[in-house]
Amino acid sequence: MNATSRIPGFYKLDPDSRFRRIVEASGLPADQLRPLQEKDAAMAAIADRMIENAVGTIAIPLGIAANFLIDGTDHLVPMATEEPSVVAAASNAALIARERGGFHTSGTAPVMIAQVQILDVADPQGARLRLLEARDELLELANAQDPLLVELGGGARDIEVRLVESGDFRCVVVHLQVDVRDAMGANAVNTMAEALAPRIAAIARGRSLLRILSNKADLRLVRARAVFDAEKLGGADVVDGIVDAYRFAAADPYRAATHNKGIMNGISAVVLATGNDTRAVEAGAHCHACRDGRYTSLSHFEKDADGHLVGSIELPLALGLVGGATRTHPTAQAAVTLLGVRSATHLGRITAAVGLAQNTAALRALATEGIQRGHMSLHARNVAAAAGAVEDEIGALVERMVADGHVRLDRARQLLAELRPEPEPHRQ
Ligand code: MEV
Repeated sequence: MNATSRIPGFYKLDPDSRFRRIVEASGLPADQLRPLQEKDAAMAAIADRMIENAVGTIAIPLGIAANFLIDGTDHLVPMATEEPSVVAAASNAALIARERGGFHTSGTAPVMIAQVQILDVADPQGARLRLLEARDELLELANAQDPLLVELGGGARDIEVRLVESGDFRCVVVHLQVDVRDAMGANAVNTMAEALAPRIAAIARGRSLLRILSNKADLRLVRARAVFDAEKLGGADVVDGIVDAYRFAAADPYRAATHNKGIMNGISAVVLATGNDTRAVEAGAHCHACRDGRYTSLSHFEKDADGHLVGSIELPLALGLVGGATRTHPTAQAAVTLLGVRSATHLGRITAAVGLAQNTAALRALATEGIQRGHMSLHARNVAAAAGAVEDEIGALVERMVADGHVRLDRARQLLAELRPEPEPHRQ
């Protein structure tokens, strides 16, 4: 338990002073907390601009997935993840997809939805039609909030009015649909929703409450498909195994959650590497997986007439290239540069291809040797390090643990003790 969490004026301090104050306030030794403190002054300043009360940063490994041929163009894909095997698996599946032309992608216009909630409406059906009659006025008012977006070819496109009811709760909800171009769009649509709310409330003759984007970004879809060569996958049995694995996910929400987690291993890694909002993307993806009222697989797998595996995926991806951490974080900037993307939708399409590759690799492993073998050597490295092995001891420990199939901390400690020479007995 911390001695106190009350530090008046904490937010006004610089990151180093904040660190000193949390050491005092926690009553813990500074050495134990030192890893929280940012060593690089420039990075500390960036972190301090990005979030409140920053003291440091946490470094997540950034790997580059290879072999991605997407819409006829090669891409090196930056992926930020703490999980072993993810980058290797995506690269392997991309290599197999290359054999038959790589990934083919498409996407809708980058349209986000903002919701304005109106309560206490006496005549919801009448209000709905009054609001639809005011469509042009509302769109004009929305676009007046963001002339730059309009100049760039984006802006408010349409409105939809829904009546939301549950038990004795009832509200009128206006959806403002906005083409946000290369932004993730939260700021643009939230500003518009807040500006429109009083007018919407007046037209509906009710009271506005929430004015916020929806992460169910189902007007901003991206799609990817690929043919995975049967022979390269390991033969017809492997193709059948992957199709059966997919059918399991399609039929069972318990399996679908794990299947989709495998997809998000790839997607979230690209989202994080490019400084985008992983939670927005995760929320949108899982909600999409439930769009027909039952949670199911985000991807599909089938066999083509020649027995090759056809994988496809469609999901909402609210990604941006302008604004947010993508603009302020130098690593995210470099990741976007390496990808060579032309627009936020282009980034979304590449990300969908990575999700499909990741999913295919996981299903292939699961339908054949199981997932553990591939995981083991990287996992064993982490376990060896956790047991206290130094760099030139890690290799030997990993080899032994993988060979006898016991990758555990107690085993690593035991092996380490065996490896290290006995200290000389103390002579009197
Ligand atoms: C592990 O991070 C992801 C998998 O569980 C995905 C799947 O089961 O499809 C291997």
